[in-house]
Amino acid sequence: MTDLYDVIFKRRDTRHFTSDPVPDEVLQKALQAGHAAPSVGLSEPTRYYIVEDADLKLQVKKLFDASREKAEEQISNPDQLDKHQSLKLEAITSAPIGLVIATDESVLDEYVIGTIGTKETLAWSTACAIQNIWLSLTEQGYSMGWVSILDYIAFKELLNLPESVKPLGYFCIGKPADDYDNRPMLETHNWKRKSSAPHVVKITQGL
Ligand SMILES: Cc1cc2nc3c(=O)[nH]c(=O)nc-3n(C[C@H](O)[C@H](O)[C@H](O)COP(=O)(O)O)c2cc1C
Repeated sequence: MTDLYDVIFKRRDTRHFTSDPVPDEVLQKALQAGHAAPSVGLSEPTRYYIVEDADLKLQVKKLFDASREKAEEQISNPDQLDKHQSLKLEAITSAPIGLVIATDESVLDEYVIGTIGTKETLAWSTACAIQNIWLSLTEQGYSMGWVSILDYIAFKELLNLPESVKPLGYFCIGKPADDYDNRPMLETHNWKRKSSAPHVVKITQGL
């Protein structure tokens, strides 16, 4: 059996994929891992939409390009802008499979335990599923990249999703073409260094 910690530390956000197809068993196993994740009040709000159509991928890529351009307009430091422009932050048209992972808030039409404080708990449940999928793909020799640089209103319209369905992103899935030296790709490009330890504080009566 694969060691859990090997998989956790090997998992990477991947933006470079080979053209190898993803066998259906691999995707199904990953989706089952997502389905095994916890969900608030057993609400199971997570919805998956598989994108294989090249034209739809191109439309998503256009949305990404527009959002990236908008983000870059906000970077005033020229060095930072240069560095940002050199980063590959998606693999929408090159990854064999695109997956939209979303939360369906219509589960709130019935009472859901754990949503009185915030309905964000539904999206947090979906985030748990996303991480399980990421780990399952890693364990199977595949990987995933999360694309969140999108205008979510336009993204929802493009996919024609029901009003209650909120996408958390577009996910690129395939065989990794690069392991980025087993470090976050952003670190290998000197964008930012990953901290060496988790930020943990013991509190007694508040900070
Ligand atoms: C909520 C979320 C959104 C992200 N969106 C993007 C994105 O749009 N483009 C991208 O290249 N990476 C995206 N990432 C990946 C992060 O940049 C990546 O997780 C981080 O640099 C650490 O690298 P690692 O996942 O390989 O450890 C996202 C990650 C998360 C958790």
